[in-house]
Amino acid sequence: MMVQGAVRVPGDKSITHRALLLAAMARGTSHVGGALTSLDARSSARVLRRLGAGISPLASERLVTVRGQGRLRAPEARLDCGNSGTTTRLLLGLLAGHRFTATLTGDRSLRRRPMRRVTLPLTRMGARFTEHGGDGLPLTIRGGALHPIEYRMPVSSAQIKSSVMLAGLAGGVPVAVHEPAGRSRDHTERMLRAFGYEVKDDDGWIRFAPTGRVVPFDLQVPGDPSSAAFLVGLAALADGGELCIAGVGVNPTRVGFLDVLRRMGVAPIIEPAGDEFGEPVADIVMRPAELRATEVHAADIPGLIDEIPILAVVASRAHGATVFRDVGELRVKESDRLGLIASNLRATGAAAEVRGDDLWVEGGAAPPRGAVRTAGDHRLAMAFAVLGQLPGARVRIDDLACAAVSFPNFPATLRRVVRR
Ligand code: S3P
Repeated sequence: MMVQGAVRVPGDKSITHRALLLAAMARGTSHVGGALTSLDARSSARVLRRLGAGISPLASERLVTVRGQGRLRAPEARLDCGNSGTTTRLLLGLLAGHRFTATLTGDRSLRRRPMRRVTLPLTRMGARFTEHGGDGLPLTIRGGALHPIEYRMPVSSAQIKSSVMLAGLAGGVPVAVHEPAGRSRDHTERMLRAFGYEVKDDDGWIRFAPTGRVVPFDLQVPGDPSSAAFLVGLAALADGGELCIAGVGVNPTRVGFLDVLRRMGVAPIIEPAGDEFGEPVADIVMRPAELRATEVHAADIPGLIDEIPILAVVASRAHGATVFRDVGELRVKESDRLGLIASNLRATGAAAEVRGDDLWVEGGAAPPRGAVRTAGDHRLAMAFAVLGQLPGARVRIDDLACAAVSFPNFPATLRRVVRR
């Protein structure tokens, strides 16, 4: 299998969510170019419209216009966050600072995901919650006057960190959050700094004291490195050719997967292509390589949390055994991603195992063959679709359509760059 061509990937999911949420909080009209138009991004747009924001349809290649009211308005019905954990957790932060009641729900996968990780700090700040589904959704929030907080997060999570920061923003109170190990993505910090707010990073504590209002803005969303990772992985596994992925966000808290691939023998070329709203952007040029196993340490995990499915697939074709340390968080992603990465690798003929919170993947060379169960998890579907491109592969994926959660037209993009 060869790769060839130059492609762009859809807009960054994390940045698109944040742009829509913040634009809804601004009084006036913001413009978001290059926004992701996937199902998850539409979930954010849908719930924000119900909260009073005017948001133009999310369609590819179209500038998104957001008319914010300066505050959110009480919704008339339940807010359906679809499959999107980021929509839910970040929105809960904003809602904590609003004096009305709202009930959030989502699809089957989202309803089972833990929400106490955000309701706990938000309760301490003064928001009130009624649980209808234990630790998950549906959940009713009643926001109001908030207190400042200094919060030590039990896990490194950009969603918890951002939820608390957005509560600080909406409630007009200072907040500080501390991450235990490694740094999770810092898009919220960068965006708030781009607005002129001071966000301090002092000895592991992120400190944010909101001053003033969010003003309307124009932003161009870079390509999503988490989507690019599937094409990067594909190129690493190819027998020849060269693939350029243009206009990708290369924020250092997002590109840990490139460091791991370098350790595995791959040499991605990163050609800087500017800066957007405090976010570095680059073209990534990839060629195949002889792959060797590596160890991915606990502190690296937050910087590549969404890329573990594709890295595990790449590891299954490397010489030796790769271990990913302390990846228990994967159990509470869109699926039990940890269990399913291992069982699907085994189902397609590789040796993989979960030992405690670690994932072990033994490299092999036999053509992958077997049936993959995604449980509707977009990143599992795309990672195993990449594995299915190898010569002699016969990989049947139960649901590739779920890739549309983050990467519209993924199958077509794959077909465009693969040469047999
Ligand atoms: C995200 C943070 C990550 C990531 C998710 C998007 C974000 O979750 O897995 O896809 O946009 O803040 P955690 O912060 O909970 O690890």
